[in-house]
Amino acid sequence: MQYKNRNFYIESVSAANLVKKFGSPIYCYSKNRLVHNIEIFKQYFKSTSPLICFSVKSNSNSTLLRIIKSYGYGADVVSDGELKKVLSIGFDPSKIVYSGVGKKKLELDYAIKKNILLINVESLSELKNIVHLAKKNRKIVNVGLRLNPNIDAKTNSKISTGRLQDKFGLNEKEFLLIVKKYKHIKNINLKCLSVHIGSQIISNKPYNKMLKVIDNILKKSDHKFSYVDLGGGMGIDYLNNDKIIDYRVLSKNVYNFAYKNKCKIIFEPGRSIVGDTAILLTKIIYIKNSLNKKFIIIDAGMNDLIRPALYDAIHEILPIKKNRSTVLMEHDFVGPICETADRFLRKKKYQKLDEGESLAIKDVGAYGYALTSNYNLRPKPTEILIDKSKFKVISKKEKVQDLI
Ligand code: LLP
Repeated sequence: MQYKNRNFYIESVSAANLVKKFGSPIYCYSKNRLVHNIEIFKQYFKSTSPLICFSVKSNSNSTLLRIIKSYGYGADVVSDGELKKVLSIGFDPSKIVYSGVGKKKLELDYAIKKNILLINVESLSELKNIVHLAKKNRKIVNVGLRLNPNIDAKTNSKISTGRLQDKFGLNEKEFLLIVKKYKHIKNINLKCLSVHIGSQIISNKPYNKMLKVIDNILKKSDHKFSYVDLGGGMGIDYLNNDKIIDYRVLSKNVYNFAYKNKCKIIFEPGRSIVGDTAILLTKIIYIKNSLNKKFIIIDAGMNDLIRPALYDAIHEILPIKKNRSTVLMEHDFVGPICETADRFLRKKKYQKLDEGESLAIKDVGAYGYALTSNYNLRPKPTEILIDKSKFKVISKKEKVQDLI
């Protein structure tokens, strides 16, 4: 995504033309960027050759999932819906892992019948259900035990998952007790130790700590886990300050860890694969001048992109036509929804803007469309995939009529 002669382009397609053709707001994805991310993640961890299971919750668009699958990725799912979707798309069941703290019996039963690679178990009660269902189905079920390593990933508290106060995983004591008690149970195979400590992690430290904790627990557990699932969580550079994890160092540490423990590694990345592949194009409806600031009222709302409202997330907003002016006044970019939280960004200065102009909200590929809703009875936006100079609709805009 770049400016050519001050006009914003996604690959070779002008953003202005897309808005003209499809209206706004619209999610626009770059295929080129997606393929780049898919390949580079593989490349980073080449020495370890992990199984990479794309975290479907970050983006479940069928077209994007097909592309991701075609590069050999598996899938990390967290619901019956996600599991059914990836199976219908043709993901290999032997590359599917299923996580989540609240899987119901019917959902577990379905997953067991589909012979997926792993069910990541998060409580003793869930494990008991699996044993029961495995017997009933006359199967041996591969189980991952999710450990809560009690590590603070130093990310937004709402997306931190690896501390004892978080609902995820088994604490060390429970984990070891379960291994001891269940490693010889007939219908299950304790195949994997799983962790996921949080999302949008931009420092190597939490990962290093996590590897140490797991290493220690593997020793104590006295059980051979064939897999260690390290989850996802790798952050992207939303703030444009180059602060992301050092993949070379992480890769080396993971390689050493896998070598020492003789296990196959699984990763579950979501954001790092799709996060920076998309922008949300939106139009300015009104500009309202208040006493000491301008409200730039745009036609995308928190139902179209909830991350700023929910996590105070920063998504940069770019004009799709650059000019050389600067207005030195606070600008609040807000949506049309009847909530004060429906605010995207605050800027101290911005170029001169006019009503009717379009803007691009950056880095919305992960947990963007996935978290859209019909709040205020607003239809969900169109999604478009851009491939060089070609583009196609990959999910249609909902119609108000559909919601009524
Ligand atoms: N594995 C598990 C078990 C997870 O819970 C998650 C994300 C992932 C993998 C993928 O994490 P990623 O690589 O995308 O960081 N809605 C929030 C993020 C929630 C993340 C939930 N779990 C946001 O918009 O920031």
